[in-house]
Amino acid sequence: MTRFVHQGNNKRIFIRRMFADIAGRYDLLNRIISLGLDRRWRRRLAKAMAPDAGDRFLDLACGTGDQAIELLRIQPGCQVLAADPVTGMLSIARQKQPHLPVLACESETLPFPDACFSGVTITFGIRNFSFLSLGLREVIRVIEPGGRLGILEFARPSSGFLASAAGWYVNTVIPFIGRLLAGSAAYNYLPESIDVFPAPDRIMAKLKNWGLVDVRARSMLAGLVILYLGKKAPLNTD
Ligand SMILES: C[S@@+](CC[C@H](N)C(=O)[O-])C[C@H]1O[C@@H](n2cnc3c(N)ncnc32)[C@H](O)[C@@H]1O
Repeated sequence: MTRFVHQGNNKRIFIRRMFADIAGRYDLLNRIISLGLDRRWRRRLAKAMAPDAGDRFLDLACGTGDQAIELLRIQPGCQVLAADPVTGMLSIARQKQPHLPVLACESETLPFPDACFSGVTITFGIRNFSFLSLGLREVIRVIEPGGRLGILEFARPSSGFLASAAGWYVNTVIPFIGRLLAGSAAYNYLPESIDVFPAPDRIMAKLKNWGLVDVRARSMLAGLVILYLGKKAPLNTD
């Protein structure tokens, strides 16, 4: 298997092209390779964000909009802006939810003032950021004090039978299905990018360093999927 070596601007070009190529088949592949579990993971993140009527959310790296739509499903009174750099993905989000506000932008240069969102969700997106630290700091900048950040991301399970089974599935089965259904080697990228992505304790440390409190990581599917949650520290009014 080729190693995933893209970083910085090379990664940015590679990722944009890859998601533009697979946009039309992304939802179908998602359902198949996650065995339908992705819906449950998104629901769990949406509930953990505890959206109230009137809250303003940014769903960043929104892809075809499923996480944004799930937030609106559990709290129709909140507002959700769905943002992603790949316009082909955003077009599909709009086909699914014609009134969903969408914006083409990327995490490293968010075109929003400080503290303008009640919360930000990022579902299977941060692994793709070209500049992880820069992107995450931008995300935290746009959350209001006391606001929430919720991230779903893959990780490498460390040990045990389930971890071996999950490893085999991600390394072998997913790239095979990707080639078969999308006619593309894009799904080789998934295991490779999980391998080079920082482990959950390092992600949590970064989130704490950059001003989040109550940072937690919940493991799902034997540690293959991690739900990270945190809050931006409230303003000190003393
Ligand atoms: C695996 S998809 C996830 C899409 C969607 N959130 C979901 O759960 O199905 C990753 C998305 O991240 C987007 N992306 C890649 N680089 C990004 C960046 N630097 N900033 C924001 N989004 C980015 C891609 O365009 C792609 O739509």
